[in-house]
Amino acid sequence: MTGLFISFEGPEGAGKSTQQRHLAARLEQAGYPFLMTREPGGTPLGTRVREVLLDPELEIGALSEFLLYSASRAQLVQDVIRPALGRGEVVVCDRYADSSLAYQGAGRGLNPELLRDVTWEATGGLQPHLTLLLDLDPALGLQRAAQTGQPDRLERADLSFHQRVRQGFLALAAQAPERVLLLDATRPETELADEIWSVVGGLLRVLSPR
Ligand SMILES: Nc1ncnc2c1ncn2[C@@H]1O[C@H](COP(=O)(O)OP(=O)(O)O)[C@@H](O)[C@H]1O
Ligand SMILES: [Mg+2]
Repeated sequence: MTGLFISFEGPEGAGKSTQQRHLAARLEQAGYPFLMTREPGGTPLGTRVREVLLDPELEIGALSEFLLYSASRAQLVQDVIRPALGRGEVVVCDRYADSSLAYQGAGRGLNPELLRDVTWEATGGLQPHLTLLLDLDPALGLQRAAQTGQPDRLERADLSFHQRVRQGFLALAAQAPERVLLLDATRPETELADEIWSVVGGLLRVLSPR
C-alpha cells in the first residue's frame, strides 16, 4: 500500500479542524497508521510562515501571500506528506492546494495558470486521493470562527472576498467530482463525521483489505 492522502477544505469556521479530530479518532480506533497535519504549517518552516500569514498587523500582497503558502506547502510535501505516504500511512491535511486556488485565485484574483504551475512545482503534482469540502455560507462560518478567538488576517477580510472563495471551492468541486466530496457543513457534526468515515473507511478497505 502507498498510503492514502486526504485533505479538508472549506471556508473559515466550516468545521475542518472538528472533522479532522473525528477522523483521527476513527482511524485510531480502526488501527490504521495516520498522520494529521495542516497548512500553512506542519514543518518548522511552515509554522513560521503560518505566523506571518495570519498576522493581522501585516499587509501582504496577493502574489507574496500565494508564494508564502507555496513555500510552506513545498516543505510540507517534501518533509512530511511524501515520507508518510511512503510508509503507507493515511495523511490528513487541514487545507491543501485547493485553498490557494480558492483564496488566492477566486478570492484575490491571481491568474489560475500561475497558481497551477507554481503549485505543481511545489507539490511535484501530488494531489489528494480524496478532498472533503465542507461548504457553508461564509457569514455563518465567520460567526462560528469568531467564537474561537481573535480574528486572524484572513478572517478580517471582507465578506465579498469570502463569498468569492466559497464560489471558488464550489467550482473546484464541480471540476473534479471524482476527487472532491462536497458536504453541507451546516449538518450536525456527528452526522458529518459518520458520512466522512463511511467514505474514508470504504476507501481503506479497498486499499488495504484485512
Ligand atoms: N457541524 C457543525 N455544526 C455547528 N457547529 C460546528 C459544526 N462543526 C464545527 N462547529 C463549530 O464551529 C466552530 C469552528 O469549527 P472549526 O472546526 O474550528 O472550523 P475550521 O477548522 O473549518 O475553521 C467551532 O466552534 C466548532 O465547534
Ligand atoms: Mg481550523
